[in-house]
Amino acid sequence: AGRRPLVAGNWKMNGLKADGLALTDAVLAGVRGGAWRCELLVCPPATLLSLVGDRLKGSPVRLGAQDCHHKPSGAHTGDLAAPMLADIGCRFVIVGHSERRADHGETDAEVKAKAEAAMAATLIPIVCVGETLAMRERGDALKVVAAQLAGSLPVGASADGLVVAYEPVWAIGTGRTPTTADIGAMHQALRAELKRHLGAESDRMRILYGGSVKSSNAAEILAIDGVDGALVGGASLKAEDFLTIARACA
Ligand code: G3H
Repeated sequence: AGRRPLVAGNWKMNGLKADGLALTDAVLAGVRGGAWRCELLVCPPATLLSLVGDRLKGSPVRLGAQDCHHKPSGAHTGDLAAPMLADIGCRFVIVGHSERRADHGETDAEVKAKAEAAMAATLIPIVCVGETLAMRERGDALKVVAAQLAGSLPVGASADGLVVAYEPVWAIGTGRTPTTADIGAMHQALRAELKRHLGAESDRMRILYGGSVKSSNAAEILAIDGVDGALVGGASLKAEDFLTIARACA
């Protein structure tokens, strides 16, 4: 449905100032002069958002955050509100990453509230879902992940206002990936679920794959029908790998 792929780098909890700036400059140097079929996004740790965002100004690379609170302000020590992220130039925010679900006990309902807070602040939430290895081995993956998505979906999302990322927990940082058939089947199931909840608008929403995407497997994964880009962790910490993945968008 004419969806422009999105390749997003999630730096997670990595990088001091010098590392983040060097990585940003290396990405920008590689991006210059090229015509990019995909949209490019980097999501640095919160400490680097402003700094990296200033560097990215005027470039085609977008800035995103890794999490936000579900309220726009208030007594929530250590949290960041979506309007604060928008204010410093973020266009996207990841919500419900499996590491947040695991480390901070985030539930589908909280993820949904965060996605709605992001949208209210004109950010595009990247809503993450994915099964554990036990669920996959039980044969429950499609059912569980579709239910996770249904519970995490913000109300009132427009086509350009929401991205979904399918990230099997067992594939994150492990070097293991599902078969292309399994990824294709999951993306189909998620698209059907999106359509059931959001109607025709969902045709233009992007569904990314994440979990051990690297330069050597990117072309194969990005060519799977229904995969509209990638959410890249480890490999996004090396500019050359990140850009090789981005170039693999057919
Ligand atoms: O957000 C990114 C994912 O968790 C994937 O991480 O590419 O290091 O497996 P990874």
